[in-house]
Amino acid sequence: MGVTAVIGIQWGDEGKGKIVDVLCDRADLVVRCQGGSNAGHTVVVDNRTFVLHLVPSGILRDGTVCLIGNGVAVDLELLTAELEELKRSGIATSGRLIVSRRAHLVLPHHKRIDQAQEAMRGGGKIGTTMRGIGPCYTDKYGRFGIRLGDLVDPSVLKARIQAAARAHAGGRDDKPVFDAAEAEAYCRTYLPLAREISGDVAAILMDALGEGKEIVLEGAQGFLLDIDHGTYPYVTSSNTGVHGLITGSGLPPSSIDSVVGVLKAYVTRVGEGPLPTEMEEPYQTLVREKGREFGATTGRPRRCGWLDLVALEYACSLNGVTSLVVTKLDTLAGLDALKMCVAYEHDGMPVPSFPTETDVLAGCTCRYVGCDTWAGPSLPGEKGTLPRSARAYLERIEAAAGAPIMMVSVGPERGDTIQLQD
Ligand code: IMP
Repeated sequence: MGVTAVIGIQWGDEGKGKIVDVLCDRADLVVRCQGGSNAGHTVVVDNRTFVLHLVPSGILRDGTVCLIGNGVAVDLELLTAELEELKRSGIATSGRLIVSRRAHLVLPHHKRIDQAQEAMRGGGKIGTTMRGIGPCYTDKYGRFGIRLGDLVDPSVLKARIQAAARAHAGGRDDKPVFDAAEAEAYCRTYLPLAREISGDVAAILMDALGEGKEIVLEGAQGFLLDIDHGTYPYVTSSNTGVHGLITGSGLPPSSIDSVVGVLKAYVTRVGEGPLPTEMEEPYQTLVREKGREFGATTGRPRRCGWLDLVALEYACSLNGVTSLVVTKLDTLAGLDALKMCVAYEHDGMPVPSFPTETDVLAGCTCRYVGCDTWAGPSLPGEKGTLPRSARAYLERIEAAAGAPIMMVSVGPERGDTIQLQD
């Protein structure tokens, strides 16, 4: 297996948490590389549901070491709560989680800025998760963010906080949104935790690589929310594809052995921005209810759409996806009609590939092909017993993506998984 990168290739919520958990039965280390507590990775084990926002999904496998890389925006308050919740559920976390000293911290002012910016955007709002992710990365790239490693040396912390205060004040002396005293008190609160969990994640990974260990990189969000390649500005503030897993872990690009693209059998999007294949009623409500399509982080209803092969092809090619995992195939069982989008048109003209301009994407109409349905309400969990029409649906996905499907998920539990290839 070597180094396996697992990424979402739609608009997030593809079910990466479950798939990472399944793949981790063979992994020594699992790494979160980008994003932060805006993610909500759901894993169901023996009827118990765990929703992980920051802790890698490998924490539910004994013996897997969990790392949070430099690229993650870490909210120590939420991380503390998540670790306590896991301990209450009987999951051993002590000594199993190491967070990069280079990871940037989400501080209280980031959440205030997130809220204020969304309010300011009015009709053009992005629909962020309000977890302070964008403002945290803004400070990072402005070079006045606070990193986990800054906490352990009081004089370094003071200097970093003063730099942030100066940058946020921007020469104004009206009430600054960045409150230096608040930030310092916050950081001091989490000093013991920082001492316990911080480490040099890139160095740990390089050692593990040298020892031939199995490493899983756990992507967050989906490629169409990528800050560079997604539907800007309706995106998150990190690189959500394989590129982000490289910079966010410190591993060299040549170390990646396989790129697993996770997609739902349909698409969903939470928040604003174009969704060309948005379903009409009654399918919108049927799929949302049956697929329990409500945000794991915010509880917001997700917008549901038919499978979009144009977007899929785009995501697979830019990420060099080597194999696919299709989730929630069971949700489509029992629908009386089924279709997938095979091409876009704009102003009556064919669109050759996924548009770079979000306004163009918003104005695209979709050309669909109808697919044979299969009976519901569920699907058998064995390879040979998938209905012929479901197999045909999967074959169309493989042809568009140019990659084989290694696994199909037909329910939330670990066992609700059909392995098609190793
Ligand atoms: P932010 O990441 O909170 O700034 O939100 C930016 C956009 O990305 C919004 O549309 C969010 O709904 C979306 N988003 C962020 N994280 C996730 C996720 O884990 N799954 C799905 N959508 C997400």
